[in-house]
Amino acid sequence: MSSLKGKVAMITGAGSGIGQATAKLMAERGASVLCTDLNPETAEATAAMIREAGGIAESLVCDIGSEDSIKAAIAHAETRYGGLDILHNNAALQDPKVLAKDADIAAMEIDIWDRTMAVNVRGTMLGCKHAIPAMLRRGGGVIVNTSSTYGLAAYISLPAYSASKAAINSITQHVAAAYGKRGIRCNAVAPALVLTPLTASFIPKPLIDINVDGACTPFLGGPLEVAQAVAFLASDDARFITGHILPVDGGTLCTQPTVPASRSFFAQAAS
Ligand SMILES: NC(=O)c1ccc[n+]([C@@H]2O[C@H](COP(=O)([O-])OP(=O)(O)OC[C@H]3O[C@@H](n4cnc5c(N)ncnc54)[C@H](O)[C@@H]3O)[C@@H](O)[C@H]2O)c1
Repeated sequence: MSSLKGKVAMITGAGSGIGQATAKLMAERGASVLCTDLNPETAEATAAMIREAGGIAESLVCDIGSEDSIKAAIAHAETRYGGLDILHNNAALQDPKVLAKDADIAAMEIDIWDRTMAVNVRGTMLGCKHAIPAMLRRGGGVIVNTSSTYGLAAYISLPAYSASKAAINSITQHVAAAYGKRGIRCNAVAPALVLTPLTASFIPKPLIDINVDGACTPFLGGPLEVAQAVAFLASDDARFITGHILPVDGGTLCTQPTVPASRSFFAQAAS
């Protein structure tokens, strides 16, 4: 198990889903965790869960769409805990109404495109921009960004979301290249569909089944499977891993696109 003992970690979007699971796991592994989110109640709920379990955590409102907000959160980590070792740039615009409108590039509403880029790309960049100087003052650090399999291979909808995640991959590699010699590592996790309370609430069951069929594993991962990858990348066990975009996808991207249909074909032929 990768220890994070003595580390100071800040997580964006820690009030729900993957961010919440990462905050809890990092605290279990010994980190002091600053749980930030746009939503003060959910951020505090995550921090309270950690404290009740005996960990060290506090909540702070941070809107990754606002440079002042990110700057203040990182400054708070430094003042309160003496520095920042880990940033999990996790938050993204996940509003189902926005995602529903991000369907067809030929009918793209500019506001949808701009909001997606402003939160996902600009927010991730701002996290890096302000975490890097803090980490340099500490003698090094680790940034783990949250990409998506949609940033690595195309889907039939979500063009803005996918482009934003591809940009996050590029930011990840840039930070690794530019700051690696000064002790900062930067990686990204690229989850496939992960069942969180939010995704489970709006993704129809047949579409979830299609995603299970597209994976090599018999199940879809949950927030914990992603959190485990993030905690590993953030730990010293991953000290020689940087600039990497790690699919956390049950093998979805490693197969020929024909695999699910071929599986059905051979099953039918055998019956
Ligand atoms: N769930 C999936 O299937 C899936 C798959 C691939 C990638 N991802 C990525 O994982 C990350 C987390 O996704 P999730 O499914 O856990 O989402 P979620 O909606 O459960 O949680 C996202 C959290 O981010 C917060 N948030 C939203 N906008 C914010 C902002 N501007 N500033 C600060 N916080 C903000 C929300 O309040 C929420 O607590 C996202 O980057 C998402 O794109 C998710």
